[in-house]
Amino acid sequence: GTTPRFRNEPLTDFTRPENRTAMRSALDAARRRLGETLPIVIGGRRIETGRWVDSVNPAWRGEIVARGAAATAEIATSAIDIARDAFPAWRDTPAGQRADLLRKVALILRRDKFALAALEVFETGKQWREADADIAEAIDFCHFCADEMQRLTRPHRRDIPGEDNEYFYEPRGVAVVIAPWNFPLAILCGMTAAALVAGNTVIMKPAEQSPAVSARLMDAFEEAGVPKGVVNYLPGIGEEVGPVLVKHPDTSLIAFTGSRAVGMLIARQAAELAEGQEQIKRVIAELGGKNAVIVDDDADLDEAVHGVVASAFGYSGQKCSACSRVIVLDSVYETFLSRLVESTRSLEIGPAENPGYYLGPVIDDEAQRRILAMIDRARRQSRLAYQADVSALASEGSYVPPTIFADVSPSASIAQEEVFGPVLAVIRAADLTDALRIANGTKYALTGGLFSRSPANIDRVRREFRVGNLYINRKITGALVDRQPFGGFKLSGVGSKAGGPDYLQQFLIPRVITENT
Ligand code: SER
Repeated sequence: GTTPRFRNEPLTDFTRPENRTAMRSALDAARRRLGETLPIVIGGRRIETGRWVDSVNPAWRGEIVARGAAATAEIATSAIDIARDAFPAWRDTPAGQRADLLRKVALILRRDKFALAALEVFETGKQWREADADIAEAIDFCHFCADEMQRLTRPHRRDIPGEDNEYFYEPRGVAVVIAPWNFPLAILCGMTAAALVAGNTVIMKPAEQSPAVSARLMDAFEEAGVPKGVVNYLPGIGEEVGPVLVKHPDTSLIAFTGSRAVGMLIARQAAELAEGQEQIKRVIAELGGKNAVIVDDDADLDEAVHGVVASAFGYSGQKCSACSRVIVLDSVYETFLSRLVESTRSLEIGPAENPGYYLGPVIDDEAQRRILAMIDRARRQSRLAYQADVSALASEGSYVPPTIFADVSPSASIAQEEVFGPVLAVIRAADLTDALRIANGTKYALTGGLFSRSPANIDRVRREFRVGNLYINRKITGALVDRQPFGGFKLSGVGSKAGGPDYLQQFLIPRVITENT
């Protein structure tokens, strides 16, 4: 038979009053649960350690959203031991059953989408639409991984007279999933769903800033009936438990999404052979970007301004896909810059709870300090073209003003280093050749964009702007599972694109059996 074609989960239409009402009551319900404690879950057992990692509402410092139990090194070690013991039975569970488990998880996430989105609003400062999209993407990953596993399970035989050949996949073993806070459900769910449906057992290590949303994913796996020990939830301090998980001899695979520094550390630690280790660890790492949009001299400037603003300032620029450089051709430079500044000036800033605000705070005070320091350094090198005034909000939360630098030199640090905040560098290019040289001139290759009406220039940029995800005449964030498989190369990461046709193989070992008949 034919498998039904994958369809992306529709986004919630918040212009409809019933959806706004549902979201408001979900926010009220989430508010009543604020401060809940989240135990570690390993082997189906709930464990507390007496130490907590607090997740704080970035828009309101006084508000503790949840307290995640801080795992110790010993607990991290025993989590791997438990996952290793649970592995053989899960490996031998038919792939179709594993896929069905993910489809059940998808139904649970869909049922709870307003509650999950509301929790993201409090925990990570995501706007309603952005939080809803994160839940939809998590649902997509469940369905997509389930479909992909069924595709890979189809018999692959090359039989000739006297010789039968069968090619098939097996899981690798214990997968450690280390996830970021910026897509707290989708990215954790995507990496976990892939590992799990492939037959691996999983330790989910959520980001310190988003233990609550990730705990709900653990709840969904349990409600869907995942066997004990097959998925484990291990909140804690990254520096304390990360290395223990990565270095354990029985860890087979590490799937990580986060900073370049941590990704490189994981790659190095995973390469060292531990006492008793019997396998070479696979590392999948989705890291940063220094993504650029090129604005051609015949671009529709209204579209270009709109696309750049959304890409640079949506969720305060806290996406690895975000635009942090815009490279504008000389003849339209001044016009584009002044329209960009005017458009950015009109953005309303405030807590995500209120859907009227376009952007809110950054994730925490540490991020705020780091980004403000980068802005300070950039002010010494580059011309400040615009900075919003967020002083009225400063006492409430971790706000960073949307900031635009102009006439930035392509080699300035603000044009080379990832910011992960609402900061945009505008760079002037003499012509398209110059623009392409600047665009390709960083260590990263994640996303990129072009606004142009010239077919010849579009063609050339398609060939010469070398990034993982290139977008033409639209924003450069918001990749959809299956439609825009997501991920980069150079120092942006190693591994195949999430939500794409090569992703699942990374979690599998191919084998061949030949029988002389
Ligand atoms: N997939 C996200 C986007 O495309 C980034 O992680 O925006």
